[in-house]
Amino acid sequence: MDDVEGPGARPELAELFSQSRRADPYPGYAQLRESAPVWEPFPGLLVLSRHADCVRVLRDLRFGHLDERAVRRGRRGSGPRAVVDADRGLVRSFLMRNPPDHTRLRRLVAGSFTPRRVEGLAPRIEALAGELLGRSGGRSSFDVIAGLASPLPVAVISELLGVPEKDRPRLVAWSHALARGLDPAFLVTTEERQAQLSAIDELAAYLVEEIGRRRRSPGDDLVSDLVAMHDRGEPLSEAELVATCTLLLVAGHETTTSLIGNAVRALAQNPDQLDVLSREPSLLPAVVEEVLRFDSPVQLTGRVALEDAEAGGVSTPRGTFLVLLIAAANRDPLAFDAPDRFDVRRASSSHLAFGQGIHFCLGAPLARLEAQIALRALVGAFGTFRLASEPKWKENAVLRGLERLEVDVGR
Ligand code: HEM
Repeated sequence: MDDVEGPGARPELAELFSQSRRADPYPGYAQLRESAPVWEPFPGLLVLSRHADCVRVLRDLRFGHLDERAVRRGRRGSGPRAVVDADRGLVRSFLMRNPPDHTRLRRLVAGSFTPRRVEGLAPRIEALAGELLGRSGGRSSFDVIAGLASPLPVAVISELLGVPEKDRPRLVAWSHALARGLDPAFLVTTEERQAQLSAIDELAAYLVEEIGRRRRSPGDDLVSDLVAMHDRGEPLSEAELVATCTLLLVAGHETTTSLIGNAVRALAQNPDQLDVLSREPSLLPAVVEEVLRFDSPVQLTGRVALEDAEAGGVSTPRGTFLVLLIAAANRDPLAFDAPDRFDVRRASSSHLAFGQGIHFCLGAPLARLEAQIALRALVGAFGTFRLASEPKWKENAVLRGLERLEVDVGR
């Protein structure tokens, strides 16, 4: 498939995701998008970086996820699998399943995440954000990640699912281990892989216990609702119940932390844009959309051709793996004017930060609301903020985000 190779130098796969590029992976993505927008680093794997190509694949049901039988059929050496095997941590959750199972399982929880239902959580999220910022009380600088961006989403999803406060530190540790496990195999150490596998087992054991507890004394939470659905005879197996709870607990935690952190960083680095927001608070939703585009918390996702198909003008025989570089697509000049400029007035919602098609992020309304509330609370409490030191990035490549973000605050 020589035709997938364009002219010019391009970073090789390991280099594209190397730690040295974590702070700014975008020049590497741009180079790739220009030189080889449909790149085949080795036979059986395509990497797509153009917006239009990613959209088409995400909306095309000929591309999906492997089921257990297809994993066995589709395994062709260690190469392709090593790169796109992103599903271990969330195995069998509906994120990784195809219709009709995907449709059946998503439907069971979709009602809890509609914009209207989520809007009802606003007062509680505001109270949590206020409480967290209150703890920074009077200090002139603080770490946005530890002080707000990390604990807020953990508290919100824990309250939704009824996870007691005492268990949340364990939840955070499992989430970290699972998130790192989503990275390409060549980035993950044996110890990290082991930690991921242990986290899967420990979280599943924890959830089995929690499910038993809710069965004995149901609460006003989503796990209790799912248990009731299962016990009422909804088509939902016990393993699917555990997988769905796992997905909900971890899917929105690291990502929303990254969104809030990336927003504060982008605004601190672009004081003119922070000024615009301070003067026009009604731009808040647009600011969050622009951060999602400009610095996407989920940098890439994967699909496999379930039948012979075509992507980006290249044929993809059944079993071909595809990496969709969402973060590169969101900086595609064919889709966005001056894509490397952080512009809170851009007013474009065609970014792919939440995916597209049937797997479009179920938690998008919640993530948007949490980020808006966090930013409003921060600007309300401190007026303005500046970077106090160089931000520190986590090692994660797929769920890329900040580990530490010290800002100086003050009016
Ligand atoms: C900024 C925060 C978030 C980002 C950037 C994000 C991103 C994504 C993306 C890109 C997908 C699609 C993956 C694919 O098609 O392969 C997805 C799916 C999903 N997300 Fe989110 N997410 C965020 C927050 C949340 C939250 C807060 C929750 C819920 C509590 C959540 C729950 C889910 C679920 C359940 C799916 C699977 C949907 C399906 O397969 O039908 N996410 N998310």
